[in-house]
Amino acid sequence: MSEATIDRLVIDTPDDWHLHLRDGAALSAVLPASARQFARAIVMPNLRPPVTTTAQAMAYRERILAARAVTGPGSGFEPLMTLYLTDNTAPQEIVRARQAGVVALKLYPQGATTNSDAGVSDIRRTYRTLEAMQREGLLLLVHGEVTDPQVDLFDREAVFIERHLIALRREFPGLRVVFEHITTREGAQYVLQEDDQNLAATVTPQHLLFNRNAIFQGGLRPHYYCLPVLKGEEHRLALVAAATSGSTRFFLGTDSAPHAAVLKESSMGHAGCYTALTALELYAQVFDEAGALHHLEGFASHHGADFYRLPRNAGRVVLERRAQTVPAAVPFGDTELKPLCGGETLAWTFAGSL
Ligand code: DOR
Ligand code: ZN
Repeated sequence: MSEATIDRLVIDTPDDWHLHLRDGAALSAVLPASARQFARAIVMPNLRPPVTTTAQAMAYRERILAARAVTGPGSGFEPLMTLYLTDNTAPQEIVRARQAGVVALKLYPQGATTNSDAGVSDIRRTYRTLEAMQREGLLLLVHGEVTDPQVDLFDREAVFIERHLIALRREFPGLRVVFEHITTREGAQYVLQEDDQNLAATVTPQHLLFNRNAIFQGGLRPHYYCLPVLKGEEHRLALVAAATSGSTRFFLGTDSAPHAAVLKESSMGHAGCYTALTALELYAQVFDEAGALHHLEGFASHHGADFYRLPRNAGRVVLERRAQTVPAAVPFGDTELKPLCGGETLAWTFAGSL
């Protein structure tokens, strides 16, 4: 059957391997959308203050579970907790983290993105902690961009590979590393070419669907601004080829990053695209256009769980080729949130769980 004639897809329930859930009223506003489509999510620790200790991660997990109980559907949604790696994260914290069920640490180079002031100033300072992670089996999730002001914004990912990632992989071959939200041909090639079963990457829907022209089309469009920033078309095509190839080294991570619309539409607009509302539909569009719908289930539901060494989900979800219009705005505490592609029509619709 040609893929153009596929109008219903039933896949194992997917997981989101990179998600910003925020806290308080914002958490309650965005949690139901992710819980509707995904069984589990890797929850990013860049709160203010950041989640740097196991105790903080456990308290945050309790707040997420409390919000989940109030917001109804998707009550089985499981948050997978992470810690924010700093220059001072002690190796002993890693043992506590593993015992408490924390699965990974997130490395933000200092100043690279939203709430990253407490991030790592020099990766070598964390080497004793990385050694403990390698030993304890915790994963390292990497925001792979250098912050050197001499390096052009669009080159920061490629330079990060050369300056840091290659050395880090050599030093800790047993450490499982997820190169988060890759955005470049260099990123995709690096992950593909290394014969390294401990290296994988997440890819966001916005980096698969859009190139950097989207930010400037007819005027400045802040809802297409995220970090790492969208790249040129050659990079987008390389990401689509990698994500839809069936390679087990690539998996779904939305990086859904909600910011109040007023904070994005300002003179210092915040970085982040809110994609959780229609996450699966956005990915389905990419795989459909690439003629690779048969690889969507691996990318969305299998590769991530296998890499994290967690069981695959038991349930299934349904996607239908049925047009829907993405809401232009949704409530977000006492303000509003504008989803990526708000007001536009998508070809696929999430039709629930079986
Ligand atoms: O665009 C982004 N937004 N990139 C990140 O790395 C962080 C995220 C956020 O937390 O808003
Ligand atoms: Zn993120």
